[in-house]
Amino acid sequence: TPSERIRNFCIIAHIDHGKSTLADRMLQLTGVVDERAMRAQYLDRMDIERERGITVKSQAVRMPWQVDGVNYALNMIDTPGHVDFTYEVSRSLAACEGAILLVDAAQGIEAQTLANLYLAMENDLTIIPVLNKIDLPGADPEKYAAEIGSLVGVAPEDVLRVSGKTGVGVPELLDHVVRTLPAPVGNADGPCRAMIFDSVYDTYRGVVTYVRVFDGELSPRERIEMMSTGAVHDLLEIGVISPEPVPTKGLGPGEVGYLITGVKDVRQSKVGDTVTSARRGATEALAGYSDPKPMVFSGLFPIDGSDYPALRDALDKLKLNDAALNYEPETSTALGFGFRVGFLGLLHLEIIRERLEREFDLDLIATAPSVIYHVTMEDGTEVGVYNPSDFPEGKVREIREPVTRATILAPAEYIGAIMELCQSKRGQLQGMDYLSEDRVELRYILPLAEIVFDFFDQLKSRTKGYASLDYEVEGEQAADLVKVDMLLQGEPVDAFSAVVHRDRAYGYGVEMAGKLKNLIPRQQFEVPIQAAIGARIIARENIRAMRKDVLSKCYGGDISRKRKLLEKQKEGKKRMKNIGSVEVPQEAFIAALSSD
Ligand code: GTP
Repeated sequence: TPSERIRNFCIIAHIDHGKSTLADRMLQLTGVVDERAMRAQYLDRMDIERERGITVKSQAVRMPWQVDGVNYALNMIDTPGHVDFTYEVSRSLAACEGAILLVDAAQGIEAQTLANLYLAMENDLTIIPVLNKIDLPGADPEKYAAEIGSLVGVAPEDVLRVSGKTGVGVPELLDHVVRTLPAPVGNADGPCRAMIFDSVYDTYRGVVTYVRVFDGELSPRERIEMMSTGAVHDLLEIGVISPEPVPTKGLGPGEVGYLITGVKDVRQSKVGDTVTSARRGATEALAGYSDPKPMVFSGLFPIDGSDYPALRDALDKLKLNDAALNYEPETSTALGFGFRVGFLGLLHLEIIRERLEREFDLDLIATAPSVIYHVTMEDGTEVGVYNPSDFPEGKVREIREPVTRATILAPAEYIGAIMELCQSKRGQLQGMDYLSEDRVELRYILPLAEIVFDFFDQLKSRTKGYASLDYEVEGEQAADLVKVDMLLQGEPVDAFSAVVHRDRAYGYGVEMAGKLKNLIPRQQFEVPIQAAIGARIIARENIRAMRKDVLSKCYGGDISRKRKLLEKQKEGKKRMKNIGSVEVPQEAFIAALSSD
């Protein structure tokens, strides 16, 4: 297709605002999928995505559409809609000339959508503001048209109104895409440059790589080079998705499609990388490539130690499809063999954990998520700490922690509650704007460690679920942080070490000591549980010695809530861990680590 007749666009929307439904409707109206074959939620392929209602992996579909008797090819590129995947979103946006900003006409815009809208504007995309679900009785298009109109800089009456469900307004929207989005421009004669905006591992075909060609032409059966690594691969197949993969004779400037090289790991086909021809290829890569950087770390341990090899195999499998997933073996005195795993953020952690448990049938315990600290010692040496138990001994000059730029959107009545929460989480207010009379946008600098702790849950509960949050990691700050150790009879229990702000150290120590006291059975002798910062004890509990007439297996406290975990431990297979001379059943540690 000549580039004047191509339009590349994506849909920016909050979860549940109806992106998949609208996309399905477009596929059907353009004849790409007929009604009978139209699977609900066509674009969301993974089960978890469907169940959780989130889209993690982006894909691209080509749709024919006629305007004034001229045939156009519309490429719809699906963007992931979640906080942790900002980089992937930015690459999908970079593959497009325009974006449909889709907002639920009964809800208004959410923080995540706003963040992605700004990202699209920075990428100079043409924005088409659209209100969806106008068929809903609760829809208030007038109110929200003014809100999103002013964000995008158009009059309220120029905000399109559609219903993905009934199809109202959708043909007009497709016409609008053709008329208002610029056609892609590229150098047709130069060496090929195509950007990878997604790559997906397929069991049968290996990695399927989604690309947008900017310059030149990719033709089948040539050898291609990945410019970030210089790796050369044979091109086995190239084509477009409509809605199934259809091989083509090549992809020209402005076109969007897929390629298959036979590589088996998405790490060899990285999002953001530039593909060129191996012979007489481009010398300069397209701008914007960066390696995915894990920001949140957690130890994952199998509850049943004999599952360790299965956990390793499962992680190896998931890694094929997730270039951002990082892990290395970790051994813990309390939890045995496991892995230290790096994630893009909390949602990424949750998705991986859920897939491990569901798709691989593993029972796991995760240690509290932590971030990377950069520690400068008195003597000037610098250490990166990915795991609180690896915190260096000795005199520390400075500790730096990652900070985020966070945006919170909420009804104005919750401003006070949100400010109070952010303040208690060491947030610094950067600004506040009214989006409309009763909705505000608050901007904060917040430590990432506070966000991964329990920020989101608290935000939701203090605003009755109305607030939405987006954050992006942006640099580091020095902070007054300390490592708190939990000691059993003077011996540290590694899985419970935490790096916390000095003001929070005491609270953490008291809480953990209390929990452990209730979970660890009595021994023949008295066992002190202590929380310590270095050599200084900040909290203490005692497990009293067993009395002669009381037999073992006597748990104190209420463990009924932990039953689900405990049941998994078969009787007779109970593993005891020795911390110094104290014998502790492993499930006591597991129970102490499981939140609630
Ligand atoms: P993610 O895939 O998680 O991003 O969600 P989504 O934005 O794709 O939302 P989805 O299309 O799954 O729609 C969310 C819910 O809204 C579903 O229950 C849909 O049936 C409903 N919905 C979507 N579009 C419309 C619409 O135009 N009108 C009405 N009444 N409901 C709609």
